[in-house]
Amino acid sequence: MKNGWIKIARSNEVSLLKPYVTNKIKALPAMCLWREPDNTIAAIERFCPLGKEDLAEGKITNNGVVCPKHKITWSSLGNANKSTALTNTISYWWPTKEISGDVFVKWK
Ligand code: FES
Repeated sequence: MKNGWIKIARSNEVSLLKPYVTNKIKALPAMCLWREPDNTIAAIERFCPLGKEDLAEGKITNNGVVCPKHKITWSSLGNANKSTALTNTISYWWPTKEISGDVFVKWK
């Protein structure tokens, strides 16, 4: 898969009410997207880097998505907001942009 912007969703599918998740497609991993309070879109890996819980069942807050299993909040830059046994654990994340009602992630 070439580097570049890849369409991942429609703008109206991504909200600040609940996570929008995708499945793995070829080399593109499964992702969890949500809308931030400033209306930008965050995209991190779908399965929690700590316990591999599915963030589809997570809750969106002003600080990111809360994992349903151990309640750690993951920010749009993949950082955990709580100290854990794995303090250096971060989630992969991707830049996003919207054009004409479509959401793109930058594959790198
Ligand atoms: S599995 Fe996500 S915080 Fe533990």
